Amino acid sequence: MKIRTGTLQQLKQDGKKFASLTSYDMHTATIFDEAGIEVLLVGDSASDNVLGNVGTSPITLDEMIPFGKAVARAAKRALVIVDLPFGTYELGPDQALASSIRVMKETGAAGVKLEGAKLPQIANLVENGIPVMGHVGFTPQTVHALSGFKVQGRNDEDAKRIMAECLAIEQAGAFAIVLEMVPAYLASEISLALKIPTIGIGAGNECDGQILVWQDFAGLSGKTPSFAKNYLRLRDQLSSAAAEYRAEVIAGEFPKPEQSF
Ligand code: KIV
Repeated sequence: MKIRTGTLQQLKQDGKKFASLTSYDMHTATIFDEAGIEVLLVGDSASDNVLGNVGTSPITLDEMIPFGKAVARAAKRALVIVDLPFGTYELGPDQALASSIRVMKETGAAGVKLEGAKLPQIANLVENGIPVMGHVGFTPQTVHALSGFKVQGRNDEDAKRIMAECLAIEQAGAFAIVLEMVPAYLASEISLALKIPTIGIGAGNECDGQILVWQDFAGLSGKTPSFAKNYLRLRDQLSSAAAEYRAEVIAGEFPKPEQSF
């Protein structure tokens, strides 16, 4: 059964959790989709994890579109959501709508994600039939304004503000919210207060779903954030495979007759 935004809300109502990974290409999208991952996020984390930029803000909409296309084409079951990159929605509801229409038409994704309590933007997208995933707590696009990679909502005032933002984002019509780097107790309270599902990343175990950047989950990035877990050691495995291949080429052991015509 195809996962829809309503499926996630039903899972929450039934007290069932779901899993999400980022993906930016056809192979990982196919593999994660077939493994049953419910949500594939074409994150702007492609900026640092694929394109080699420092942080997420440099990536453009033109650069995001081909990643979105590849993932949406490959995923048969998962819900595919594409991040609106920095600079493509901050100017107002019209800019957010124009950027999102491009994403929806050109990629075939099922919705967009944007960071912060951009309520007029969210409301405008929802009014125009575009599902929106919110993203609060630590918001990587505004890392400089937040003075670096810091857990958000540690004090009472910030926790109340984040709770209020989540309620307002739900009210504006978002179908789910990513909670990034907030204390577990706060994520738990938000998850209880909201009807829409929360998706945690560095937000404890009480969110309705969890998300990881796939390179962190697979141990490819080489610098895993403390809240992530490496489910395999892809960097080490690729490195030894590449060294083994090179050694065989240099020794004249590859290709063998069975790999030759
Ligand atoms: O871009 C991204 O990968 C994200 C996730 C970390 C939620 O926004």
